[in-house]
Amino acid sequence: MQILIKKFTSLFWVIEVLGFLGMFFPLQIHALKAPFHPSDVLPVLPRQVSWPILNYLNGAADLLPSFVGAALPANNTLDWKGACFYQNTAWLEFHNKTGSQFGGGTLHLKISHAHSWTCMDLYIFATPYRVTWDYYFLSREHTLEFNEWDSEAEYEYVKHKGISIFLMQAGMLGTLQALWDVFPLFTNTGWGENSNLGFLKKHMGASFEQRPQPWVTNVSVDDIHSGDFLAISKIRGRWGGFETLEKWVSGAYAGHTAVCLRDSEGKLWVGESGHEDKEGRDIIAIMPWEEWWEFELKKDDANPHIALLPLRPDIRAKFNETAAWEYARSMDGKPYGYHNLIFSWIDTIDGNYPPPLDAHLVASVMTVWSQIQPSYAANMWNEALNKRLGTKGLNLSDVLVEVEKRGSSFAQLLAIPEQDDWVYSDGKSTSCVAFVLEMYKEAGIFGDLRKSIQVTEFTIKDAYTLNFFENDSSRLPPWCNDGDTVKLPFCQIKGKYRMELPGYNSMDPYPHMNERCPSMPPSYCRTKGC
Ligand SMILES: *[C@@H]1O[C@H](CO)[C@@H](O)[C@H](O)[C@H]1NC(C)=O
Ligand SMILES: *[C@@H]1O[C@H](CO)[C@@H](O)[C@H](O)[C@H]1NC(C)=O
Ligand SMILES: *[C@@H]1O[C@H](CO)[C@@H](O)[C@H](O)[C@H]1NC(C)=O
Ligand SMILES: *[C@@H]1O[C@H](CO)[C@@H](O)[C@H](O)[C@H]1NC(C)=O
Ligand SMILES: *[C@@H]1O[C@H](CO)[C@@H](O)[C@H](O)[C@H]1NC(C)=O
Ligand SMILES: *[C@@H]1O[C@H](CO)[C@@H](O)[C@H](O)[C@H]1NC(C)=O
Repeated sequence: MQILIKKFTSLFWVIEVLGFLGMFFPLQIHALKAPFHPSDVLPVLPRQVSWPILNYLNGAADLLPSFVGAALPANNTLDWKGACFYQNTAWLEFHNKTGSQFGGGTLHLKISHAHSWTCMDLYIFATPYRVTWDYYFLSREHTLEFNEWDSEAEYEYVKHKGISIFLMQAGMLGTLQALWDVFPLFTNTGWGENSNLGFLKKHMGASFEQRPQPWVTNVSVDDIHSGDFLAISKIRGRWGGFETLEKWVSGAYAGHTAVCLRDSEGKLWVGESGHEDKEGRDIIAIMPWEEWWEFELKKDDANPHIALLPLRPDIRAKFNETAAWEYARSMDGKPYGYHNLIFSWIDTIDGNYPPPLDAHLVASVMTVWSQIQPSYAANMWNEALNKRLGTKGLNLSDVLVEVEKRGSSFAQLLAIPEQDDWVYSDGKSTSCVAFVLEMYKEAGIFGDLRKSIQVTEFTIKDAYTLNFFENDSSRLPPWCNDGDTVKLPFCQIKGKYRMELPGYNSMDPYPHMNERCPSMPPSYCRTKGC
């Protein structure tokens, strides 16, 4: 009943807004071609109002962005029928207005034949390197500027595959506008260090205090042991942007992890899931410490901040190196765990999405991503969703139809815990932190709990809050936090800003840990025993 009344008042709103619009566009009323549809005015309503109506009018699958095609350069003009404007064409023109290495481009859109004077079409424009959006209310030629391509890779991509265009439900406008404020990944501007820091300060309450020099520690490799945890935080460029997003939604103050491992000759190695290989793919790699450290110091352009979290001696004594190596070798060269990356974050139906994110937006991102990166992301999430449903080979829209049929929702589906022993078409899937914790599990650190812990459900924060780490500062290596005035409980070995890991080394593991945890900024309060 309550809901019905709410819907009613919302429609009331629609009528009022229509009256208001009429005042502004009196001339166009004469050009009225067809009666308006209630969804035409949804975009002008606040998101809180438009979203429930939109949900009410459509099935979940109908709300997904629909791919209309890719606008290509030269004489390849794309034509399609929109929801509001029935005749649309687009083509792409390359230019070099800024005199940059790869130049930029202008997307030309010719929009005509609206079915009513109140309607508009809302579009998302995407390459694997950027996402932007715009909406069109008037029949005419519009342009969208791409001042500079991000890299040679984007330039090549756009030359061959063009810019992907997705038509959205116009009622999504409010969501996109809200995203514009809090979701810098969606803005088209350079992902500078300052925008990352600013975002994390504002939305997470991170402090980023500058440390005294030297910003790189002269580590002595002899003091690093098997199982020591590396917490990494990247704050610049594309990786910086991705990590910022991951930190915000999960509450972790680090965005990437790796683990140290000594071989039988005593040589130190680093195991990392998410290492970029020469072809630009992200894979699991086991590499000598020197090679890894050299890369982080000289070649990583994301300005990585790195902390070493040494294991506590009694935990280290449990660490079975032989078993750890067996696990590491079995995973070496496998692809990074994209399949289950998001499931560590989403545990609950509504306690994991800072506004304006929601399950529907996750589905929209999945749709856009699988369209623009089909080879790379083939089935990236679909397989994981199918496993949750107990089905095979359903695509995302099929999945949405299926959950509705079962009287469930996409949000409920996303909240189903991942199982560590699920095997995907390209093998077992582990994100950076799942790789480290799975190694801990194999090496015996979780002891008897190993059977009742799903490490693919752990976020990076869940990992560094485990009480596995050194708690006696006198036992930290002599070079630990060398030169810093603040003595951290762990060893920051690189970075201009002091790393903070709230809740570090504080939590005993317990069965089914982290399978049902909410994560809402800025406090990211956990419920007890979640
Ligand atoms: C585009 O078409 C025009 C005329 O149809 C032709 O002169 C021109 O060479 C074409 N350009 C390309 C890049 O194919
Ligand atoms: C754009 O102009 C700059 C400077 O003139 C030049 O170095 C660069 O190669 C041009 N890029 C393209 C894609 O033409
Ligand atoms: C780093 O430490 C080693 C000894 O642990 C020392 O020999 C070396 O000179 C130091 N390097 C720098 C750049 O301080
Ligand atoms: C360590 O792991 C290996 C391989 O899994 C196993 O054979 C060995 O018994 C383990 N050692 C101990 C002390 O548990
Ligand atoms: C999903 O699969 C169905 C058939 O099972 C097909 O009709 C639909 O177009 C597919 N959707 C996408 C987005 O590929
Ligand atoms: C460190 O942790 C161990 C094991 O939990 C505990 O016995 C010890 O008292 C702790 N030491 C300090 C200094 O807190």
